Amino acid sequence: MSETRGKFNSRLGFILAAAGSAVGLGNIWGFPTQATENGGAAFVLMYLILAFCLAYPAFMAELIIGRHGQANAVESLTKISRNEAQRKFAFVVGFGGILCAGLLMSFYAIVAGWMLAYTIEPITTLAGATEASTWLTSHGTERNLLFTLIFTGLTIFIISRGVEDGIERWSKRLMPALVLLLVSLTIYVLTLDGAMEGLKAYLIPDTSRLFDPDLIVNALGQAFFSLSLGTSVIIIYGSYVAKNENLVSLGASVTLIDVAIAFLAGLLIVPAMYVAQAQGVDIFKDGVLLSGDTLVLTVLPALFDTMGNVGILVSFAFFLLLSIASLTSSISMLEAPVSYIVERFGIVRNKATIIMGCIIFAVSCIIILNFSALFGFVISLTTEYGQPIIGMLCCIFVGWIWHRSSLLEELKSGNEGVEHSLFWKIWPWYTKLVCPVAIALVFINSL
Ligand code: PHE
Repeated sequence: MSETRGKFNSRLGFILAAAGSAVGLGNIWGFPTQATENGGAAFVLMYLILAFCLAYPAFMAELIIGRHGQANAVESLTKISRNEAQRKFAFVVGFGGILCAGLLMSFYAIVAGWMLAYTIEPITTLAGATEASTWLTSHGTERNLLFTLIFTGLTIFIISRGVEDGIERWSKRLMPALVLLLVSLTIYVLTLDGAMEGLKAYLIPDTSRLFDPDLIVNALGQAFFSLSLGTSVIIIYGSYVAKNENLVSLGASVTLIDVAIAFLAGLLIVPAMYVAQAQGVDIFKDGVLLSGDTLVLTVLPALFDTMGNVGILVSFAFFLLLSIASLTSSISMLEAPVSYIVERFGIVRNKATIIMGCIIFAVSCIIILNFSALFGFVISLTTEYGQPIIGMLCCIFVGWIWHRSSLLEELKSGNEGVEHSLFWKIWPWYTKLVCPVAIALVFINSL
């Protein structure tokens, strides 16, 4: 089977694809929103600590499971199991992750659809099609269905092309475009009136809030979501990495890119809110900063409106940025179930992609048609429960089930010198003891 399996063709290809999965709405929307909700810089600081101290080791656990197994999540976890009970456990964890990825995609595609609609809106405005513009930004059911369908279709198109021609090629195109757009927009916003006040709120921490339990829970959840953990996505991307690659540095590069882009997005969005305020847009409600969809879909467009014609361009660039970031993430979400049914049931990739894409779209439709009951529910089910629990179970697999010598051998593959590194000395016991306990504690605290 290994001959017919896809593989990332280059180191850069993997880094961009995995960073593409990691960098998404979570970074550009979620992180700045969470930062404004949780006391600005204090949240940023705690996020940085947790991303490197807990999420990175967990990321490495999933990556190494995949690279060792060279197969989808269920099979990769089964390969390191040594008895029947462990194999059953492997199925539950692997399949749970795949299910979580599919469910995540069903709500992610809806939000990404909004981003697509908002990308087109500046064009209809420029063309003078006022009615179309209003339709695109009014949150109607038809608009949601149509744009979720378009977004899911784009994801299906890329995934049906496979690993090299689909995931790797498109990540290589889209990721640099995303960074360029983000940096240009940030520089522009920082030159506007009011930006400096936002910068202060973002960068100077109120240390008294640092150990607020809610802040810690939110920061950990955000870090897990952002690094795509607990969804089997990193396991499957790991399985496309060649045995002669240095996993430790690959994982570190992806984590660094992900954290850097979240940080950069905060540098754009938080100052943008204060710029909006300087332009007369309301950014507080009952003394609290606006966040969530109000921030991205109301405050920022109101800011763009005050900029005249430049605003139309900026608005287009901003929502295009969010659409691109969503697409490189959704392709990884769809790859999780697709790789499973291709390998498990021998279905050809094209067919498997269409089947899974349609099932996920059907779930998105159910969510759209029962929006108030299901949207928030599916988000919290997957991101607050599914991801941390499955991420923790993957650490338990690596720490307690995988035979230690086989684990270390896998770690050495492509990286002989690792034996003399700090990573070698710390990571195995850290993943065995610290990660599961810390994740469990934070999780229990959140209940
Ligand atoms: N990490 C992505 C983001 O930040 C979301 C994601 C979660 C992607 C889980 C894949 C799997 O938007």
